[in-house]
Amino acid sequence: MRKAVNLFGEGAVRAEKAGFDIIEIQFGHGYLMAQFVSPFVNDRSDEFGGSFENRIRFPLETLQAVMDSVNLPIIVRISGDEMIPEGIKLPEMIELSKLLEKKGVIAIHVSAGTVCSTPPWFFQHMFVPKGKTWEMAKKIKIKVNIPTIFVGRINSLEDIEKLQKEYSADYIAVGRALVADPDFIGKYFAEVKGPIRPCLACVEGCLGGVKSGQGLQCLVNPEVGRETEAVEPAQQHKNYAGVGGGLAGMQAAITLKKRGYEIDLYEKNTLGGQFNLAPLTPYKKSMARLVPYFKEELEYNKVNIIFKEATESNLISKYDGVILATGSKPALPSIPGLNKFHWADILLEENLPENKKVLIVGGGLIGVDIATALIPRDNKIIIVKRTTDFGEDMEMIAKNLSLKMMKEKGTVFSDHTYIKKIEGRTVYAERKGKNIRFDDIDVIVVSTSMTSYNPLEEELKKKMPVYVVGDAKRVGNAQDAIRDGYETAKEL
Ligand SMILES: Cc1cc2nc3c(=O)[nH]c(=O)nc-3n(C[C@H](O)[C@H](O)[C@H](O)COP(=O)(O)OP(=O)(O)OC[C@H]3O[C@@H](n4cnc5c(N)ncnc54)[C@H](O)[C@@H]3O)c2cc1C
Ligand SMILES: Cc1cc2nc3c(=O)[nH]c(=O)nc-3n(C[C@H](O)[C@H](O)[C@H](O)COP(=O)(O)O)c2cc1C
Ligand code: SF4
Repeated sequence: MRKAVNLFGEGAVRAEKAGFDIIEIQFGHGYLMAQFVSPFVNDRSDEFGGSFENRIRFPLETLQAVMDSVNLPIIVRISGDEMIPEGIKLPEMIELSKLLEKKGVIAIHVSAGTVCSTPPWFFQHMFVPKGKTWEMAKKIKIKVNIPTIFVGRINSLEDIEKLQKEYSADYIAVGRALVADPDFIGKYFAEVKGPIRPCLACVEGCLGGVKSGQGLQCLVNPEVGRETEAVEPAQQHKNYAGVGGGLAGMQAAITLKKRGYEIDLYEKNTLGGQFNLAPLTPYKKSMARLVPYFKEELEYNKVNIIFKEATESNLISKYDGVILATGSKPALPSIPGLNKFHWADILLEENLPENKKVLIVGGGLIGVDIATALIPRDNKIIIVKRTTDFGEDMEMIAKNLSLKMMKEKGTVFSDHTYIKKIEGRTVYAERKGKNIRFDDIDVIVVSTSMTSYNPLEEELKKKMPVYVVGDAKRVGNAQDAIRDGYETAKEL
């Protein structure tokens, strides 16, 4: 422990030498200091465990070592609440904050959760409500005379206004909103023009990218990780057509227009394509900001949108090239008797069943999303999958919380299950070599897989340059679609 304290002091010296202006020491989020502070994990019986005074001894000794080593101002970050029954709670954190003030800390930065037990709170995931950390910071703020830093999903101008007006926030800390849009603050101060690309709090790209070893990425911002790659202005005038106003087509059109090309974007239905269905799941409401953002960006960049189905005759000889972003469609399994069923369209308000027995065939992202939307409507859910891993294509936190909720609400999970036939309300299947059946099924949902929908490429490419992007090229997710639209348009 002595060695660890010294290491903190030495680290602080290096930070000062490197030119940092402030040092923030992390007392929360389940890291080393929090492992002493938290009654949930600290089971020591010496002078570093047990009472509050003992549990904060090591963190305070570390703070002192840092203070003694450098002349920099110091902020301490805490978890106002670890969001576990036996964990750190706010009343103790108010007492700690008062002590930190006495010690000379210049501000308290109030987050929540622990990386070990409550990552949704740590990462302020879209599945947990916005503003809980703001409430904690407010309660600490009124008890100390140093600034309190508010953090957690501050990702819109309305949030900043609210924090100023209702919380009298001294300072705010902004993380992912700057990953999604590095000009977030510039746009707030009207120094930079244009719509704000909203962080969805999904952590699909940022945390997902880091966890998968690909490095920081972002669902909504295709430039993350490629900041040094310039988007070159168009070298010659060209007139493109984009077919399909889903995420891939919209991003391609915006990037082309920004580069100085002309583009007509054809959409036969609704801008946003499939992604319009994503926010219809109860915990994914924050995703509802993405399509309106794209619409704003299309308008801001004056992209010409033509609301009709593009056909070969619309395109040939009128354009210098075509971006095909016609998306994907559900791939329907051939099951005798499968006549009446839904896909993700069941998420639309007018289709949502209530108090029914629902069989979901396919347990990936879409199947799991559908289950989480139907459960609150008192539906009984059976979800079947040919393999084992339900929600295998989901972001980890969303997957864990969705499956936990489904289990708690009595969802029947049937893995290794092959549906053989459907007769009336009975579904016959085979599981691990045994015949099984599901009786009294009211509603069948098929969410097995998606297949690229790209009917125009074959003929068009004989006559003009054609570039296929997004799900139409390879079925992926929203981040893949946006990235592909961007990359393709950047290279033309
Ligand atoms: C319920 C649900 C939840 C999802 N949740 C997530 C999630 O949480 N995270 C994630 O990353 N991804 C999610 N996805 C997947 C994601 O939405 C898709 O991968 C992505 O939107 C695909 O975008 P796209 O532009 O390639 O295709 P699409 O969205 O399929 O868009 C294609 C567009 O082309 C139009 N079109 C087709 N042919 C023509 C034509 N001839 N003329 C004019 N227009 C035409 C269509 O009307 C459509 O608007 C979800 C999908 C669903 C269904
Ligand atoms: C990819 C990622 C990595 C993070 N790493 C850390 C970390 O190492 N230490 C920490 O205290 N918080 C970490 N956080 C949490 C952030 O500091 C911040 O509290 C959280 O993202 C909420 O703020 P935001 O909504 O403005 O992003 C991380 C968050 C993300 C998304
Ligand atoms: S990946 Fe999602 S949570 Fe992370 S910065 Fe981008 S939009 Fe925000």
